[in-house]
Amino acid sequence: MKPKQLAVIGHPVAHSLSPLMHNAALRQLKLPYHYRKIHVLPEALPSFCQKIKQGKLKLAGFNITLPHKEKILPYLDWIAPLAKLTGAVNTVVHHEGRLLGFNTDGLGYVESLREETQLQLKGIHVTLLGAGGAARAISIALAQLGVKHITLTNRTLSRAENLAKHLRRHFPQTHFETNKIEGKKFHQALSHSQLITNTTSVSLTKQAFEENFPDFPWQKLKLNTIISDLVYDPPLTDFLKQAKAQGLKIHPGLGMLVHQGALSFQLWTGHYPDVEVMRSILQKELKKKQTA
Ligand code: ATR
Repeated sequence: MKPKQLAVIGHPVAHSLSPLMHNAALRQLKLPYHYRKIHVLPEALPSFCQKIKQGKLKLAGFNITLPHKEKILPYLDWIAPLAKLTGAVNTVVHHEGRLLGFNTDGLGYVESLREETQLQLKGIHVTLLGAGGAARAISIALAQLGVKHITLTNRTLSRAENLAKHLRRHFPQTHFETNKIEGKKFHQALSHSQLITNTTSVSLTKQAFEENFPDFPWQKLKLNTIISDLVYDPPLTDFLKQAKAQGLKIHPGLGMLVHQGALSFQLWTGHYPDVEVMRSILQKELKKKQTA
């Protein structure tokens, strides 16, 4: 029997490690699927969706990466409430000509936090650096799990304020505060936080953290604060390196990649994959990249 097809779509998509981890987990469970990359240009997104619905392109489901996560919404037949709230979809299930949209990013993040740090989210204070799409997905997941106080900080304050306005409407039990990534109030928020998560794209640029955040008050943080970064390549971002040097506990981005993938995998196949199989193949690949 021919394997069913899964994919990740994006522009660009060549860098994606998703095929590697999904195919490893599919092989281990002996499931009849194959996962590949498909390069989809922004202008081709509507026709790509149409072809799947018409059965001209055989795909059982797919992941979505930049820049399509938000743009795909109008072409879907149903969107899960959490994805609707996030305004973005990272997983699509194809069911009998209908495309169903989900978002596993936020849940994948909190699942990896739970697994790697055992942090109890209920009642704590979290500060996020950045207020883009990633911050939105994560703050929704954190608020859903009972985080009491979320400080949204951003270089462009208006973006953090808009996000806070949206979140306050849906999560009245959580207190949302906004700030620039500098100054006294920023320092205060950090000194009260049990978790500080970098959702900005700064770690992707491989620039020194200090170049972009010269006003980060490492000395004022509580010793048990967890420092988290969403970027998994490099596995240890400069933000995490600095945190480690301060003796703080770190939470790298690889866990989120694995767990958002595991949740997507379950949506397509009905089986929960072995996350260790996914993690170890990714670790090997990232190590290879580092030494290349
Ligand atoms: P994503 O969907 O990955 O969150 P995004 O929506 O483009 O991507 O958001 C990128 C985030 O990184 C934003 O919060 C952005 O800040 P601005 O809203 O001020 O642009 C932040 N960011 C990017 N480069 C930055 C830099 N050099 N210093 C501080 N923040 C930066």
